[in-house]
Amino acid sequence: MKVGIIGFGSMGSMIAGKLLENKVIKPSELICANRTLSKMDNFKKAYADCTVTSDNQLAAKADIVFVCIRPASLKEVLCGIAPVAGKNTLIVSLNGSVLFEQLESVLAEKTRIAKVIPSVNAEVDYSVTSVCYNQHVSPKDKNRLESLLKSFGSVSEVAENELGMASELTSCMPGFIAALFSVFAEKAQPHTALQPAQIEDMLARTLEGTGRLITQKGLSFSEVLERVATKGGITEVGAAEIFENFGKVAAAVFDKTLEKRKATTQKAKESF
Ligand SMILES: NC(=O)c1ccc[n+]([C@@H]2O[C@H](COP(=O)([O-])OP(=O)(O)OC[C@H]3O[C@@H](n4cnc5c(N)ncnc54)[C@H](OP(=O)(O)O)[C@@H]3O)[C@@H](O)[C@H]2O)c1
Repeated sequence: MKVGIIGFGSMGSMIAGKLLENKVIKPSELICANRTLSKMDNFKKAYADCTVTSDNQLAAKADIVFVCIRPASLKEVLCGIAPVAGKNTLIVSLNGSVLFEQLESVLAEKTRIAKVIPSVNAEVDYSVTSVCYNQHVSPKDKNRLESLLKSFGSVSEVAENELGMASELTSCMPGFIAALFSVFAEKAQPHTALQPAQIEDMLARTLEGTGRLITQKGLSFSEVLERVATKGGITEVGAAEIFENFGKVAAAVFDKTLEKRKATTQKAKESF
């Protein structure tokens, strides 16, 4: 199987690096294309058998092609590869806000298309990658793509109209969690002589441990809470405050992000 990557920026280089590091493909099976060729110099030094090129059409001849391009250039890039992307090529767009309808309007009829939203947690092979498919994608295509994506975490298939919320919950969430815990760290500081680095370390390890309790021991969020918050105890007081006040913040986060997502989708629609 040949894998093509078009756009060797943050996402393209991460996917390329992960697929090779986790040995799901060999360097000779990977073709990376980027507008600025020199951006791939170090990668080529590390993986001499990998093909690097500024010719997008070369990468588009692979079996699976990840198109890791920002929305503003996406149409131009897709129009450029449409004539050569083979009948059996699976085109994988990393952009959640460009609808299948738009992608299909510039690619050849019946092109198989997937949309994939990775998460930064792929760096530690612990991402949840959200994925959706157009109607031409076969079960075999899905298996092939998911076998690549599963090398850096788990995969969650969703309907196209759920990709927005799925992205908030998987791709944006590491950022939301970081923001949330930086607020906890900041609010703890006035009450303690502990150093900021020590506070951050305590929170980070506790976050990791709580995640493991849930994923490894199979506890739900409410079961974790039950285990910690004894009746009339200290955790119960703090948790009650979160239930009382944090709901408004969480609701506002989704109101704002989904509204922004809608506007981005509209803008992408207009650019096609
Ligand atoms: N970053 C994230 O966390 C994240 C998460 C999920 C999804 N996404 C989505 O993934 C997509 C890519 O994002 P990114 O963060 O990887 O962007 P990025 O870092 O800006 O990378 C884009 C790459 O595309 C290359 N490029 C631009 N026009 C090209 C062309 N005509 N032919 C070939 N290469 C071209 C650029 O090359 P140059 O070196 O010449 O500029 C650059 O290396 C976006 O749609 C984004 O919404 C990003």
